[in-house]
Amino acid sequence: MSTMDRVRVELEERSYDILAGPELLQQAGQHLAPLLKQPRVMIVSDDNVAPLHLATLEESLSKAAITHSHTILPHGERTKDFAHLERLVEQLLEDKVERTTTLIALGGGVIGDITGFAASVVLRGVDFVQAPTTLLSQVDSSVGGKTGINSPHGKNLIGSFYQPRMVLADINTLDTLPQRELLAGYAETVKYGLINDPDFFSWLEENGAVLCAGDPALRQQAVVTSCRAKAAIVAADEKESGPRALLNLGHTFAHALEAEAGYGDTLIHGEAVALGIQFAFDLSVRLKHCPQEDSERVAHHFEAVGLPTNLSHIAGPHWTPQTLLAHMAHDKKVHEGKITFVLTRGIGQAFLTAEVDMKELESTLSDALSR
Ligand code: NAD
Ligand code: GLY
Repeated sequence: MSTMDRVRVELEERSYDILAGPELLQQAGQHLAPLLKQPRVMIVSDDNVAPLHLATLEESLSKAAITHSHTILPHGERTKDFAHLERLVEQLLEDKVERTTTLIALGGGVIGDITGFAASVVLRGVDFVQAPTTLLSQVDSSVGGKTGINSPHGKNLIGSFYQPRMVLADINTLDTLPQRELLAGYAETVKYGLINDPDFFSWLEENGAVLCAGDPALRQQAVVTSCRAKAAIVAADEKESGPRALLNLGHTFAHALEAEAGYGDTLIHGEAVALGIQFAFDLSVRLKHCPQEDSERVAHHFEAVGLPTNLSHIAGPHWTPQTLLAHMAHDKKVHEGKITFVLTRGIGQAFLTAEVDMKELESTLSDALSR
């Protein structure tokens, strides 16, 4: 069994450690005790994760003499809305949250995002810790301090930058994660290789299938490599005024697909990201930035692990370029009416540009939708 890894996110007084390894929920009390301003935490989880992992976390807190209470929200993307945020904040107040109380987000990106946002607003800000239990949240959403909820106008349009005090990524929690969710998180893992680390992409081509099938050491290695990459980008650009936007590779497309699909089971976030990454490569090839072979290599790898690369298997919405373009116009990356895209010159060579011809974009979407 591998031992724990530690990655530091360097943000001056807001710096924190990401711990990744086996059995970290069992050890949570000892890792958290030195950080807490009072020996009292409030755990937020969802109704899938709580029956599987809450007792382990609570037992470890009790052993470290940390008092705890919990709030359980319904699972799923639709929980990231104002109604659930209100319910959560009112529950925290009802349970007598104090300025020195720490919240723990135990769950995937949905719980991490809404809990982080609640932590940033309740009593004008209390500490919070991320205990991510999906691959997606371990490699991406628990790190970097983006918190928030969705609006009918689009995803993550309401929120704050608010850093956690620690991230505890227990690799064993991935053992209970449904395979579809694991693969969705794998898409965000591949993203780091595609942005600026071609060696990591090659490593994933070699090890991805075994990693997805369950090898914990490979999973830990992928989580740690991803967290190192994200920590470096966040340290350089915490509030996304520049290079952090590279982390949105595929996301402008993905958010449009998710909005059109209705944020349900039809298309989950990481699957939308896999499709969005493929669309970003398609557009880059069309605009003659990227060789066709690199785009095919990405599609081949996604297919090899079982991620979608086209919309033909996804029943439900009637996708059209126009509906997707309308959603894209609401993206946070729109500036003076222009969308900033993450495009690529090849694997490991992502770049930002606002200079995308709308006709080329529409043709790319048309081709992608007819595949
Ligand atoms: P999620 O939180 O909905 O979790 C996926 C599903 O798996 C849920 O049904 C959940 O109940 C279940 N689950 C979680 N852990 C489990 C476990 N160990 N065993 C069994 N079931 C488990 O989704 P996600 O993919 O983790 O996160 C997606 C969200 O993250 C989106 O809302 C996205 O916008 C957000 N996100 C945020 C950032 C950020 O920087 N803040 C980055 C990427 C994504
Ligand atoms: N997931 C994108 C970011 O954290 O910036």
